[in-house]
Amino acid sequence: MLRLDWKTPASWADAVLSDPLALLSDHAHCELKAASAIQSLIVTYPDRLALVQELGPVAVEEMQHFNQVVGVLVGRGHTLRAARPSPYAEGLGKAARQGRKDLMLDRLLVAGLIEERSFERFELLAEHTTDGELEDLYRGLMVSEARHRRLFAQVAGNYYSRAEIETREQELRAAEAQVIRVLPFDVRMHSGPVPVPADGDRSSLVGIEEPA
Ligand SMILES: [Fe+2]
Ligand SMILES: [Fe+2]
Repeated sequence: MLRLDWKTPASWADAVLSDPLALLSDHAHCELKAASAIQSLIVTYPDRLALVQELGPVAVEEMQHFNQVVGVLVGRGHTLRAARPSPYAEGLGKAARQGRKDLMLDRLLVAGLIEERSFERFELLAEHTTDGELEDLYRGLMVSEARHRRLFAQVAGNYYSRAEIETREQELRAAEAQVIRVLPFDVRMHSGPVPVPADGDRSSLVGIEEPA
């Protein structure tokens, strides 16, 4: 079940799907960064056995996702474009560091939130694309990201109390929503919403539950 504090409007999916090649290239870089973030966690906390053993295979899987996305791109006669800075990741990084001495919990929780946001967006993309290959890609990845989401929480549970995890997760969930809802729209996996007219669809402003 999604526990994000802000729901991506469906109009975002239609807009990014207008340029699937740009989206695939940005997505491939996200998979690469996911693998590298896990490697960085392992390098920083080599003595945390559960973290090393549980997350090592996830880094491998993220590289498999990278190869899979690049494969789709190359199959369409294109190559990977240059990586671009990620204001989403920067915003989350700042939220994680605020007033923290022990960063490990925040890094695990932020990684889990990114997985959850990816899950949400893959689901939207799978529902909105008319391209069978892309639908299969996004549906396949959704399953992995949901599992990764649970795994990061599980790893945190080895080192922190349930109360500490829940309190901090609530704060970081709010911070994640604050970051992504004001990012400019762009054809990227972690961009902000398509601007809507003042009297337009405001369903994205009421939280995760879509009004009937
Ligand atoms: Fe992935
Ligand atoms: Fe993942």
